[in-house]
Amino acid sequence: MAIRAIRIIDEDDVLRKHARKVEKFDDRLAELLDDMAETMRAGDGAGLAAPQVGVLKRAVVVDAGEALIEIVNPELVSSEGEITVIEGCLSVPGRAGRVVRPEKVTVKGQNRKGEDIEVSGEGMLAVCLCHELDHLDGILYVDKMIADATEEMRQRNGGEAK
Ligand code: NI
Repeated sequence: MAIRAIRIIDEDDVLRKHARKVEKFDDRLAELLDDMAETMRAGDGAGLAAPQVGVLKRAVVVDAGEALIEIVNPELVSSEGEITVIEGCLSVPGRAGRVVRPEKVTVKGQNRKGEDIEVSGEGMLAVCLCHELDHLDGILYVDKMIADATEEMRQRNGGEAK
C-alpha cells in the first residue's frame, strides 16, 4: 500500500475528464483500491475517486464513518429525498461549500473481484457516494455548490478548513 499524490483543482485536467470503465479485475486494480483507501485516510477524507490520484478508471472508495466501501464501475440506481450539506474535497483543499444532494441513494457496481454489488446509503453516506460518482464524470462539488461555506467550516474546525 502506498499514499498517492492527490490531484488538485485548477492544476490538473485529469479531474475534469470522464473516467473509463474498469474491464480487468486484476492485481493492479486491487493495488489501486488499497492505495486509494490509504490516501483517503491519510488526508482525513470520507471518500476518494480514482481520477483524484490521476487514474482515469471508474473506481471509488468511501468511508462515511461506518465501514470502507469500494465500488468499481458504480452507477446510481435510485435516489430519494433532498438534503443540504457542507462538503469539502481532497482535491479542493482549504475550501468548503453547501451542496444539495439526495438523502438516500442506491448504487450498483462491482467489487474488486468483479462480482456485482449494490450499496444503499442515507445521509452522509449518500452524500459521499454522489460526490465520488461525480468525480468519475469530471464533476467537482464546486460546480454544484449553492453557497461557499469555507468560513463556516473554518470556524467549526477551530481555524482550519479541511
Ligand atoms: Ni472529492
